[in-house]
Amino acid sequence: MSTVPVIAVDGPAGVGKGMVTRWLVQRTGFHRLDSGALYRILALAAVAAGVDLDAHAAVAALAPGLQISFTGSSEDDEAILVGGQDWTRELRAETTGALASRIAVSPEVREALLQRQRDFRLAPGLIADGRDMGTVVFPDARLKLFLDASPEERATRRQRQLSKAGIAANFATLCEEIRARDARDRGRAVAPLKPASDAHLIDTTGLSPEAVLARVEALSVAAGF
Ligand code: CDP
Ligand code: CDP
Repeated sequence: MSTVPVIAVDGPAGVGKGMVTRWLVQRTGFHRLDSGALYRILALAAVAAGVDLDAHAAVAALAPGLQISFTGSSEDDEAILVGGQDWTRELRAETTGALASRIAVSPEVREALLQRQRDFRLAPGLIADGRDMGTVVFPDARLKLFLDASPEERATRRQRQLSKAGIAANFATLCEEIRARDARDRGRAVAPLKPASDAHLIDTTGLSPEAVLARVEALSVAAGF
């Protein structure tokens, strides 16, 4: 097992994992893994290659050939390049999140991405966000956070976030999409969305970003970060 420290940040769609992760990266100088982006990229790559998303072995087979690079460090300047092309905008769409959750039910797809995620564990440390960071990918993470909030509040946050990026989204549709994605992520047989037994639960409903970060700061100080 690696001795490089990991902080795992898990939780459902639109709960603030990215915000917390970016803040922790700034605080610690650690590397970052946005594991959801890998599932999103693989789903879009399968669509682009004309592969049926339910043909899980064929989807998984695309994973090793994907050339991915992450640039930027804030929500405004982050970009994700796949094969040298900028996929950032398509990757952010809620419809892409839904495609990602369809392939994420597959054990073959999860296995194909497992080592790739662990390869991000480099000195001086890693902040990793997703659904199974604390349970499956980095079970020995030194600090595990599990964020939650009501679906309505997460849809409101996501709508505001998308509108800032110039993407219009209907609130009722977003709510519906987020509920459907959560149900699929929580209900799947492999690596379902659930807190690790040693995770710290943070219910962020009604909490401002500052209030959430104050809780995160207290927990990270207590864990020695
Ligand atoms: O990564 P994840 O999908 O979990 O969520 P995010 O992209 O970090 O957060 C979604 C949006 O909600 C961002 O624009 C955050 O700044 C915002 N947010 C918020 O308004 N209040 C919070 N307590 C947490 C996040
Ligand atoms: O930012 P948001 O929480 O909306 O989504 P994301 O983290 O980009 O993840 C997109 C989808 O990928 C999720 O709904 C999951 O189905 C899947 N995923 C997963 O299964 N395991 C992970 N570690 C990360 C994402």
